[in-house]
Amino acid sequence: MKISFTNECRKYELTITVLFLDSDDKLICNDSTALSEDEKTILEKAGAGGSRPLKNGELGYVAGKAGDENAIRKAAAFLYKTAKNYSYNVVNINFSASNSNIKNNRLAEVFSDALFMSDYKYDLFKKDESIALEEVVIHLDISDKDAENILQKNAVITKGINLVRDMVNAPANIMTIDKFEETAKNACNECGLTVNVLDKKTLTEKGMNLLLAVGQAGIQEPRMLEIVYRGNPDEKMNFIVGKGIVFDSGGMNLKPGNSLNDMKMDMAGAATALGIITTAANLKLSCNITALLPLAENAVDCKSMHTGDVIVGYKKKSVEINNTDAEGRLILADALAYADEQKPELIIDLATLTGAALIALGSKITAGFFTDEAVKNKMLKSAQATGEGLWELPLADEYRSYLKSNIADLSNISSPPREAGTITAALFLQSFVENAKWVHLDIAGPAFLDSDWNAYPAGATGAMLKTVIRYFETK
Ligand code: BES
Ligand code: ZN
Ligand code: ZN
Repeated sequence: MKISFTNECRKYELTITVLFLDSDDKLICNDSTALSEDEKTILEKAGAGGSRPLKNGELGYVAGKAGDENAIRKAAAFLYKTAKNYSYNVVNINFSASNSNIKNNRLAEVFSDALFMSDYKYDLFKKDESIALEEVVIHLDISDKDAENILQKNAVITKGINLVRDMVNAPANIMTIDKFEETAKNACNECGLTVNVLDKKTLTEKGMNLLLAVGQAGIQEPRMLEIVYRGNPDEKMNFIVGKGIVFDSGGMNLKPGNSLNDMKMDMAGAATALGIITTAANLKLSCNITALLPLAENAVDCKSMHTGDVIVGYKKKSVEINNTDAEGRLILADALAYADEQKPELIIDLATLTGAALIALGSKITAGFFTDEAVKNKMLKSAQATGEGLWELPLADEYRSYLKSNIADLSNISSPPREAGTITAALFLQSFVENAKWVHLDIAGPAFLDSDWNAYPAGATGAMLKTVIRYFETK
């Protein structure tokens, strides 16, 4: 028996061979896949997502159907989790390129994106003590230049996503309105953008009374951040509006029990809009974007809005507040009306707007509303390319009458209650957008996950950042 001692810090290496299935769920093997018949049978039985140790010491992993980009993403997430669970410093990845039906550059792009996405932990209060995965060596035939471009771009996008994750994961006692503003200023400073703050006085002068009403009981004053990125002098402006409720208690219609949990995440829309504009600037995208971030705390206090209050906002429409928990649409209404007045090409809003969206589409799919066919098709295509779930819901005329109020132009909740909650919230917003093409993304489900899912650690996800960036990237 040989016993040896060493002071050397050893690297623990793992090699994973990623395999694919054909349309009949048969393992695709070619000459470069040196598997025995036994190994093939076992891996085929394991099926998509299954893995088995191979005789040569490697790990065989069955990604899924050849050509399925989501299977590539899952493979990256599997790699990351396996490396973490077993404390490997270095992982080698072998693809049999001819197996995947996806061009090498695209394979590298999708795989490395999911790998970067996996490599996140919110560690402000609890440090990550696990062994770091230092290196992943992907054995794939692509040029150095292409590899560099792909990795650089993915790193920029991940930086944007992680900014959103850090902001949304931060508890409400940390990510206050002041802190949000400070974080936005720092992030913008880094990429040459400036933040214009519309403070309480300015909001009052402008008549943004819906935003003011929602925030009137908050510990810190409501405000709106305005950030402009100009990347193409020949094109019109686009607006990105994000819901920024730093905590949603429900107000006087206090949220019951468990519904209060995670309501620190109600500023995810605003954080994502910030992530989008800083990423657009870092990527030097050829487009113009203004981000509008209305920020407020929906607090309970003697100064809170009452039910029955009637408020006239920026658009001069009167709104009867029949539920103080339907606050997101109120702050967005002022921001959307302000954006629309400037006659932009397009307005996109992102908001954790309705619990009903979570019920209808779950936590993996965003509800999307569109007023323009071409914009819709491009947005759905962008979502597909980035692997983000997005499904269209209708701006159904049938339900417009549900938002009637006896004493004001609009009620902020629908009657009958509970019916089509995501749609009626969207219809409410639509009445504040008259000129521009408009996309409304209700990210109440996907913005924040209860548990880990593929390349998404539990908590904030940065959902829809990648899709919107891709939308502006593709002409
Ligand atoms: N922020 C919530 C929506 C939400 C719920 C986001 C769960 C993420 C997870 C929003 O302000 C809200 O409370 N909406 C109400 C509207 C209702 C009062 C018409 C809702 O969905 O219950
Ligand atoms: Zn609410
Ligand atoms: Zn809310």
